[in-house]
Amino acid sequence: MTARFTDQVVLITGAGSGLGRAAATQIAAEGASLALVDVSQAGLAETAAQIADVASAAKVIQIVADVSKEEDVARYVAETISTFGRIDGFFNNAGIEGKQDLTEDFGTEEFDKVVAINLRGVFLGLKHVLAVMKKQGSGSVVNTASVGGIRGVGNQSGYAAAKHGVVGLTRNSGIEYGQFGITVKAIAPGAIMTPMVEGSLKQIDADNWEEVGREFVSSNPMKRFGRPEEVGALVAFLLSEQASFINATVVPIDGGQSEKY
Ligand SMILES: NC(=O)c1ccc[n+]([C@@H]2O[C@H](COP(=O)([O-])OP(=O)(O)OC[C@H]3O[C@@H](n4cnc5c(N)ncnc54)[C@H](O)[C@@H]3O)[C@@H](O)[C@H]2O)c1
Repeated sequence: MTARFTDQVVLITGAGSGLGRAAATQIAAEGASLALVDVSQAGLAETAAQIADVASAAKVIQIVADVSKEEDVARYVAETISTFGRIDGFFNNAGIEGKQDLTEDFGTEEFDKVVAINLRGVFLGLKHVLAVMKKQGSGSVVNTASVGGIRGVGNQSGYAAAKHGVVGLTRNSGIEYGQFGITVKAIAPGAIMTPMVEGSLKQIDADNWEEVGREFVSSNPMKRFGRPEEVGALVAFLLSEQASFINATVVPIDGGQSEKY
């Protein structure tokens, strides 16, 4: 395969685990310099180690930051620019699953926390990165929504509100920034086996979470969880020049789950 990211700079939030890590290794293997952002220093170090295995020449910086805090977001963008001078691709991905409960029991604080990271964090990333891309006259953004951002799942007030909001931000920014040579897309993953999904299954039954998982995916048309590298491949495509006329839209990656009656 030709390297689609030679001489490009890609910024990834939530890069210390799961989907962010999978995208980071794929994109680094195709030539990009990477700015990796996460609240977890240990997670970032592990991702950097995995990148070194697949792309030993890749230039990588690790930035510990909380995407829900504007000063942290301004800092991760400033550090990326001071190191690499530009941002060609932005995977605006960090998120948490939050609690699972009925709306009446969900909790106002929990709602605020999930929305602060999953929606405010995405808005802040767009605010600071799109300003850079507008000056460049180019750039590509992929926001991480969810099947829970395009369908009702239940027991996840905060997550549903935030992820539907991410879809709204994607359409809005895509329509605003297309004229500047910038595309903004979202992905809507179904159940992909990452530490986050493992955590959700353990909330349902800590001792039998693997059995709960098998039951959970039995209704998926493909009868399995997705793999992080399948999402990484989609993100790499969407951030690349190959997807240069895909804008302001949401791409599901869920084995067909969200199309099923
Ligand atoms: N795994 C799935 O099935 C699935 C499905 C749909 C959507 N998603 C979304 O994909 C994204 C990535 O999830 P994942 O499955 O890779 O989960 P994960 O828990 O494996 O990784 C998420 C990463 O985000 C980081 N993070 C959390 N809060 C942060 C904050 N405030 N600031 C910076 N970093 C923070 C975590 O430390 C972690 O490294 C999330 O937005 C999630 O909602 C995942």
